[in-house]
Amino acid sequence: MPFHPSSLESVMSSIVNNHHTPAIPTAQGRPLFGLAREFRQSPLDEMMRLWRTYGDAVRFHFFGPFYGYLFVHPEHNRHVLQDNNANYTKQPHPSNALLRLLVGDGLLTNDGESWRSQRRLAQPAFHRRRIAEFGDIMIGAANSLLAHWDEVAERERLLDIAEEMSRVTLEVVGKSLFSQDLTREAQRVGTAFTAANETFAGLSTNPFSVYTIRLPWWPSTRRMNRNVAILDEVVNGIIAQRRANPGSEEDLLGMLMAARDEESGEGMSDHQLRDEVMTIMLAGHETTAIALSWAFYLLAQHPQARHKLEAELQMVLNGRTPTIADLPQLTYTGMIIDETLRLYPPAYALARWCNEPDIVGGYPLPAQATVTLCPYLTHRHPDFWPEPERFDPERFTPERKAERPRYAYLPFGGGPRQCIGNNFALMEATLILATIAQHYRLHLQPGQRVGMQPLVTLRPLGGLPMLLEKR
Ligand code: HEM
Repeated sequence: MPFHPSSLESVMSSIVNNHHTPAIPTAQGRPLFGLAREFRQSPLDEMMRLWRTYGDAVRFHFFGPFYGYLFVHPEHNRHVLQDNNANYTKQPHPSNALLRLLVGDGLLTNDGESWRSQRRLAQPAFHRRRIAEFGDIMIGAANSLLAHWDEVAERERLLDIAEEMSRVTLEVVGKSLFSQDLTREAQRVGTAFTAANETFAGLSTNPFSVYTIRLPWWPSTRRMNRNVAILDEVVNGIIAQRRANPGSEEDLLGMLMAARDEESGEGMSDHQLRDEVMTIMLAGHETTAIALSWAFYLLAQHPQARHKLEAELQMVLNGRTPTIADLPQLTYTGMIIDETLRLYPPAYALARWCNEPDIVGGYPLPAQATVTLCPYLTHRHPDFWPEPERFDPERFTPERKAERPRYAYLPFGGGPRQCIGNNFALMEATLILATIAQHYRLHLQPGQRVGMQPLVTLRPLGGLPMLLEKR
């Protein structure tokens, strides 16, 4: 998630005046310029460095008068996301303001009563019973991907797996939640979203972006607006098509459109509807696509895990297409997804705004502090994850899971703002991985190195070209 520390230090005076609380370790950067350059170059490396140098709680000088707070311990995560969640909002965090340029006031970025009522409205579309109905759509989308690969595999063995996964997950979100086929839009959505994502990442580590985004003629604002306009066209198309053919009110789009305010009896405004649809379209496909891409990347490097996966698929499915009834037996497949989300959590950092002075992990936190939680780091905490860099799906056996504190693992966040698509995504990733791995092995090219690109989400840098091998 976006990251943008900017706590005004003059508000330090509002710190809880408690002489027993130790001062939080502080990382000072260059005078005036702070650590802005380091964050701009690589936010993830810089957070890793801060953690290794200063420990689980650190205050750091970002730029000028702005400081940020980074917390890594599971107890800190629990405090911010769950125990005292009312004190930690998304607005007016600067990175949330940037994200709103793209998704407006949808579920992901909204706060307070307005968020609560939207969440209540959307929740039934994600109930377990409904999700079961989506299984067929997920398997169907994976099968059409396989049909496409069968066609191209003879002449074109090298494919960008990140792009392929993005197409298949966009198809799933479109069909499950909007009852529409977005496959033809995949290219447009992918390109515009990638460009918006890159602009966003540049802005989120730029101390002046809170000002420049208000200038419509500023180059990055223009770039952002151009790509948002393309995505808007797709979203408005989804809404217009449903208005022309009302039909089902059973899917998420139908539920959102049928919703009426209890007092005024009014439906959602076009603007609100646009924001929700945009949020779900983007949050609902990009993250799962990234998780699947990293899973194939890890499997290519760990033949033993791949062998075990193939053995499970052979035993449970024996060549037939999976159904959701197979999910309880596909345990190792699920564990591969869990372990992938540990090493490469697509939402690698979560941003919050601290409203009232608080104590986190024994350290005082002033009001208006920008707080960053970093699942990428927590997932490597050696107190909870022995040999943290090692890919080991067995960490996710029920017994070993039960030994860890809840907030040592948070690919979907936690508390009231936990991902609404959590179960949807896990089921989708498991079914798609099982379907593909039965028919194809994916290989890296000799000497290929794959870097990380921490934008809004943690993508493989420059896509993920892989070689197809038909099994
Ligand atoms: C592997 C896939 C996914 C991952 C890793 C993921 C991760 C997350 C995380 C960490 C959050 C919380 C952000 C925060 O606390 O600031 C979140 C929120 C959200 N996610 Fe997901 N997500 C995934 C899939 C999905 C899917 C499939 C959908 C919808 C179909 C979805 C829709 C949302 C929405 C709407 C929110 C905002 C919820 C709220 O604040 O009420 N996500 N996601």
